[in-house]
Amino acid sequence: MSRKPETPADPASFTKKDLLDIESLSKAEIQMILDTAESMAEINKRTIKKVPTLRGRLVANLFYENSTRTRFSFEIAERRLTADSISFAAATSSASKGETLLDTCRNLEAMAPDAIVIRHQASGAPHFLARNLKCAVINAGDGTHAHPTQALLDAFTIRRAKGKLDGLRVAICGDVRFSRVARSNLALLPKMGAEVTLAGPRTLLPPEIERTGARVTTRIEEAVDGADVVMMLRVQKERGGGLGFPSDREYFELFGLTPERRKLARKDAIVMHPGPMNRGVEIDSAVADGPGSVILDQVEAGVAVRMAVLYLLIGVSGDE
Ligand code: CP
Repeated sequence: MSRKPETPADPASFTKKDLLDIESLSKAEIQMILDTAESMAEINKRTIKKVPTLRGRLVANLFYENSTRTRFSFEIAERRLTADSISFAAATSSASKGETLLDTCRNLEAMAPDAIVIRHQASGAPHFLARNLKCAVINAGDGTHAHPTQALLDAFTIRRAKGKLDGLRVAICGDVRFSRVARSNLALLPKMGAEVTLAGPRTLLPPEIERTGARVTTRIEEAVDGADVVMMLRVQKERGGGLGFPSDREYFELFGLTPERRKLARKDAIVMHPGPMNRGVEIDSAVADGPGSVILDQVEAGVAVRMAVLYLLIGVSGDE
């Protein structure tokens, strides 16, 4: 179910300097990003997928952690809006010679980018830059803290599939403890009226989780039962997410989304995963590739949502 593209919002009406997390966005601002992304999605359906909206603007993409979806979709978004963009990989930069994050960014800022997109293994790194730099800073994922554009693209995908967010039952299952995707979705979905249930092994549910107000369970079946949306999370082995499980097989048996567990959700439920997937660990291939899976729709939405974020943050209203 797709929404009719709206007229894009005037970027002057979006007054944020940076996009660092979902908590600092109001419901109206989230709505504005999602509506603007609808207009961007319409551009992405054209034969010539390019508009001059960000001509003369420069975006620097700094990825200190690996990425496929986020990095490529930001780069595609920048090209589609005709921004100039440069991409930086930590391994081939002077960061490998010991240059600090702040020095790296101050040096980049001297080359006058309008925005810096940053993914970093340290929680809070984008916030630190935003306090120290004049240009816009966009968080493309920081440690275990936040992944705001992922939550926005997830919301966009859900809204397209279900026509709304308000009143939906969303199960977020798996490695909640190490997941910035879970944290950002937990900040966004209840704000937009959805009811979230978190499920995972006790060792992968952070101690502070009870304070979020979300329903929490250690049984995936309980979370999935009657859900409109089932969002599976990657086991983040690189952050310690595999700890406490003797094998992937045991994790899959207790917490994997199998076709049998999928049947507990509503018949018209959608299945989501931010990627990259550990097939046969948190999700069965038959479910990932089966009916109701919107996993590739999420990837497609990533381009439109990141175009919307760039436009609202550094688009120019009127003649300049
Ligand atoms: N969902 C996501 O952030 O994927 P990447 O790590 O590939 O960017």
